[in-house]
Amino acid sequence: MDRHESLFARAQGVLPGGVSSPVRAFKSVGGHPRYIVRGEGATLVGAEGERWTDFCLAWGPLILGHAHPSIVEAVTRSVRDGVAFGTVHEGEIELGEKILQAFPGRDRVRLVCTGTEAVMTALRIARGATGRPKVLKFGGCYHGHGDGMLVKAGSGLVTLGVGDSAGVSPAVAADTVVVPLDDEQALDDAFAKWGDEIAAAIVEPLPANNGLLTQRPEWLRHLRAACTKHGALLILDEVITGFRFGYHGYERVVDVPADLTTLGKIVGGGMPVAAVVGRAAEMDLLAPKGPVYQAGTMAGNPVCVAAGIATLDVLAKGDVYAHLDALGRHFDALPKRSRWVRQGPILWPWLGAGEPPRTDSAIPSSVRAPFGKMHAAWLEAGIYFPPSAFEVGFLCSAHTTGDLDRLVEVAERALDD
Ligand SMILES: Cc1ncc(COP(=O)(O)O)c(C=O)c1O
Repeated sequence: MDRHESLFARAQGVLPGGVSSPVRAFKSVGGHPRYIVRGEGATLVGAEGERWTDFCLAWGPLILGHAHPSIVEAVTRSVRDGVAFGTVHEGEIELGEKILQAFPGRDRVRLVCTGTEAVMTALRIARGATGRPKVLKFGGCYHGHGDGMLVKAGSGLVTLGVGDSAGVSPAVAADTVVVPLDDEQALDDAFAKWGDEIAAAIVEPLPANNGLLTQRPEWLRHLRAACTKHGALLILDEVITGFRFGYHGYERVVDVPADLTTLGKIVGGGMPVAAVVGRAAEMDLLAPKGPVYQAGTMAGNPVCVAAGIATLDVLAKGDVYAHLDALGRHFDALPKRSRWVRQGPILWPWLGAGEPPRTDSAIPSSVRAPFGKMHAAWLEAGIYFPPSAFEVGFLCSAHTTGDLDRLVEVAERALDD
């Protein structure tokens, strides 16, 4: 038994399933998780001294790679001044201003700690603003683990939500309307049926939690127009996409503006920071200004906020995005037999037949077995990719073109075997 296996055996006696978040358990690729002792740039160092080129990057926050000097310096300085104040400090204003620069026409930012919280808060604002109970979401989109978001499409074209997790009350699930992605008619049917009850539609504008499901811009525009027509707010969940395609939201890429935007991951530079962004009209409904309650002991924590500011400062210079674009072009130009979906610095191996999917239901379960082989080969060859056929990989400023060559080469060797 190596150190990873003995630590995982010990963990299972303490933590449910041995982990603090489910997908870390490697259940979908088999085997055991790898214990990490250190990260440096694009490299993860394992408990047995292994070195892996990291394409998981903490599930997306580390666009600057591990232990970026600017973040380390900002956090170290902040820690020395005290790790929490429980009251106001200048850093939260500064981070809020830096976020707003990227979202023209928006006036306010509420800082929270996780993407889950940001979504819960945005939904509560939408319900508070409209006085309506229901939320429309799309099959295959993940919006954190709030009760009402743990529902997906049932068998019908348009279904009222049924809980996807034990422990979600049927009453809460029933307030979530689930519609398939990429389907104007299903969307129109849902609005025709429940239009005056729907407070908001929430979507990942580039769904990246169930494969990488690139949406048609005209579908996104249809959604925008339907929300406006029926008086529902459009929430773009940009926890993954925000600040990843440039110093802005993905809404600029597709030209579909949100009423409320949820951010996480990159805005905290690897620390627990997330945010809701919107216009004063809706955001000022939040307490203490308005009647929609939301609060947090750790919200706007000075150390976490320092990491977010340092990250956005580096990104604002622009050269990281230029590097990521160059990596993307290199990846596209690589001679490949394997098929991948790439959007900016997000990669996903497409192991099904035919065109890359736009809906979760278009991904067959047969992708699991070849992905499992690829994943095992990557680990062996010094590459750490997220341990699931349905998760995407991320690029960071520390990756090189050689890292991409190797990712593809090892994947193809595994598939040939
Ligand atoms: C689009 C999206 N929304 C919300 C969340 C939840 O964020 P967190 O895990 O920080 O609660 C995630 C997490 O991956 C996400 O990808």
